[in-house]
Amino acid sequence: MGFKKGFIWGAATAAFQIEGAALEDGKGPSVWDVFSHEPGKVLEGHNGDVACDHYHRFREDVALMAQMGIRSYRFSLSWPRIMPEGTGRVNEKGVAFYNALIDELLAHGIRPFVTLFHWDYPEALHLRGGWMNPDSAEWFRAYTEVCAGAFGDRVKDWITLNEPQCFIGLGYQMGLHAPGLKMVVPDIVKAVHHTLKAHGLAVKTLRELVPGCKVGYAPCGGPFVPQTNSPEDIEAARRVYFATTKENLAFSVALWSDPALLGSYPEDFLRLFGKHLPSGWQEDLSTIHQPLDYYCQNIYYGAVVRAADNAQGFELIAPEVGHPKTALNWGILPDVLYWGPRYLYERYRTPFVISENGLSCHDVISLDGKVHDPNRQDYTHRYLLALRRAAEDGIDVAGYFHWSLMDNFEWAHGYNERFGLIYVDYATQQRIIKDSAWWYKTVMESNGENL
Ligand code: NOJ
Repeated sequence: MGFKKGFIWGAATAAFQIEGAALEDGKGPSVWDVFSHEPGKVLEGHNGDVACDHYHRFREDVALMAQMGIRSYRFSLSWPRIMPEGTGRVNEKGVAFYNALIDELLAHGIRPFVTLFHWDYPEALHLRGGWMNPDSAEWFRAYTEVCAGAFGDRVKDWITLNEPQCFIGLGYQMGLHAPGLKMVVPDIVKAVHHTLKAHGLAVKTLRELVPGCKVGYAPCGGPFVPQTNSPEDIEAARRVYFATTKENLAFSVALWSDPALLGSYPEDFLRLFGKHLPSGWQEDLSTIHQPLDYYCQNIYYGAVVRAADNAQGFELIAPEVGHPKTALNWGILPDVLYWGPRYLYERYRTPFVISENGLSCHDVISLDGKVHDPNRQDYTHRYLLALRRAAEDGIDVAGYFHWSLMDNFEWAHGYNERFGLIYVDYATQQRIIKDSAWWYKTVMESNGENL
């Protein structure tokens, strides 16, 4: 017994990170177009103007996916490519691009999983207050309606928002991501609420307009792993994983998931921050709380804790000297793909999908012209073993998307980080399928039996 029959195996990307064609064919600017052109915001001044030029090379990329045995492909739509001002006018050329991409995927037998929003917010709406504006939920609903109408005849798998923790936490609170704001807590709390409402309205809209659709939601968070299997450690890790505190507000797992999956804000959040919620928030909870077919999470790293006799009730265990890390300095901790799904499934009882997992390495083209990336294979192997253990222990694990299909624009880190199963030479736009991708093909083909 391992992964269930029909397990979803795939790879993922996001529009801004791969498409390029930043202002082509009528696309409007996104906050990331503006932010990445601001000196000092992105490593070495990299931007998304060309990226992987996927906008022009999508047919080649889909052919590579087919060669690599990718059966499901998670990608995002660029809101300002479809609606340059964010609301109102629809850019038919943008719609035509996604129609052609979707048709190409289907012609190759690849199932499209569409993320509606992966951070490239329309600049025009940002200038109207972005997620701070109470109308932002309705703007997102209207955009969802356009996407459902344009693509819903062929796309049946949808994800509403990707990592709200990051576009609010890193983008609105810490200023590290677009639009580069450093807002105060009362304003952050309002933005959180509007974002959650946007999610709920999008789910409702998809259900109304796309018969037979399946809908998910993809927040993130580093799971806490108990140091031992003692009930005390397991409970301590669960408590800290789902806590909302003054320190983790915008990054809290429970804050972004309880309202959507359980229909209520976490008690600790309400106690600390509830007074900042916009008026009428209680009535919005039924809109925010929509049944979901998949509860997705992007999981890469985490931390180990044990129960302790101190005020907090737990103690963080520091990684030992020399603990393995990725190129981004993220500690490698495969058990997060066991404990994360387990804690999340026990709390939310919704089929669980890893919507992103993978690592960045500083890959190179070897003298033989190939890209050998044993560390990516080893990482993925270890993480998938942990995920399979979760499935074997009764967690309803429904899918796994590797991040990423191809090397791409890693936000504030620019092109320095390579997360792809496909190597991209940005100077020539040549693609090379990495060794790990050929290995991943055998994993998908055996439904994880060969791990
Ligand atoms: C999270 C994001 O969703 C994705 O855009 C990013 O590139 C990867 N994780 C790696 O950081």
